[in-house]
Amino acid sequence: MSELNELYQEVILDHNKNPRNYGVLEQADRRAEGNNPLCGDRITVFIKLREDTIEEIRFQGAGCAISTASASIMTETLKGKSLDEVGPLFQAFRDLVTGKETPSADSLGKLAVFHGVSEFPIRVKCATLAWHTLQAALQQRTDPVSTE
Ligand code: FES
Repeated sequence: MSELNELYQEVILDHNKNPRNYGVLEQADRRAEGNNPLCGDRITVFIKLREDTIEEIRFQGAGCAISTASASIMTETLKGKSLDEVGPLFQAFRDLVTGKETPSADSLGKLAVFHGVSEFPIRVKCATLAWHTLQAALQQRTDPVSTE
């Protein structure tokens, strides 16, 4: 394994073991539930907005290492971001984990640690579960969202 891949894996394992922004956000004004039907793992994303900015974001749920680390790094990345930035970031992240070349990959920051997911197509749903759930929360959807 290359040094870079080892570093990426360490970051993922660290976020799985010590997820950031984990827990219920009582003052959330948006929330949604998501699940990966392939494994049954579930996640809830909570968001508190201040005008068009994500002031606070948390998640809760049980999932595999990739889904937990992805949710954790997603919340770290999006805290303080404007709503306009969310769509392009999700698109760039999806391109990364599905192995598409994307000029915006440079803008992904720590999300780049999921680069290796593209070699394991079944894991794409794990990596994107939190993002699909986030999108549902922002769209104020009340039906539980699925990665299918
Ligand atoms: Fe369930 Fe990854 S195995 S989300």
